[in-house]
Amino acid sequence: MTFQDEIIKWYLVHKRDLPWRNTTDAYVIWLSEIILQQTRVEQGLPYFNRFLSSYPTVSDFAAATESQILKLWQGLGYYSRGRNMLITAKEVLDVHDGIFPTAYADLIRLKGVGDYTAAAIASFSSNESKPVLDGNVFRVLSRYFGIATPINSTGGKKEFAALATALIVGQQASVYNQAIMEFGALQCKPKSPDCPSCPVQEGCCARNTNHVNLLPVKVKT
Ligand code: ADE
Repeated sequence: MTFQDEIIKWYLVHKRDLPWRNTTDAYVIWLSEIILQQTRVEQGLPYFNRFLSSYPTVSDFAAATESQILKLWQGLGYYSRGRNMLITAKEVLDVHDGIFPTAYADLIRLKGVGDYTAAAIASFSSNESKPVLDGNVFRVLSRYFGIATPINSTGGKKEFAALATALIVGQQASVYNQAIMEFGALQCKPKSPDCPSCPVQEGCCARNTNHVNLLPVKVKT
């Protein structure tokens, strides 16, 4: 079995049941991804639920005032996320007739949406073949493929992006992207991962060379 097939097989058994995984609605996925940008899943979950019940559609969101949004955002920090969301919701109404875009090229132009978030929304909502690269994915790839190039260097970003782009070819992008992020979050953890229970331990460069706790490499900025 390939690395990707093993990761997907692991995911189908171990995945958490998270509400944004049961939808292809790009608005709902956008809501979850912006909340989760600098926030842990357990902390973000109740906020996600409150936002979705208060604003079931992007039109509802766009009709809110900034103070209403910031009040619901209370406690999450990084309040520019909330402000940017209102700008984006209004833009979706003006520019996209209220239909939240699902294509990476449209998403990347929205305020507050960077490369990771555009790839996440595009792949989860429409299966577009764009790899997600977050901290979890960097860690899994650096360990399994034994890549010691710093993940926050220009060369490292290019190297990991090229690898991630090659790996997603032929995969169901929505499932594969969720799977590798979840694998990083639950199995290939930053500290003391449980390698003896790992389904890809045999092919893992870091495990085979005893470098698990040295990867990924990050340079001080
Ligand atoms: N963190 C960021 N996006 C996530 C997602 N879609 N599922 C779980 N954790 C996440």
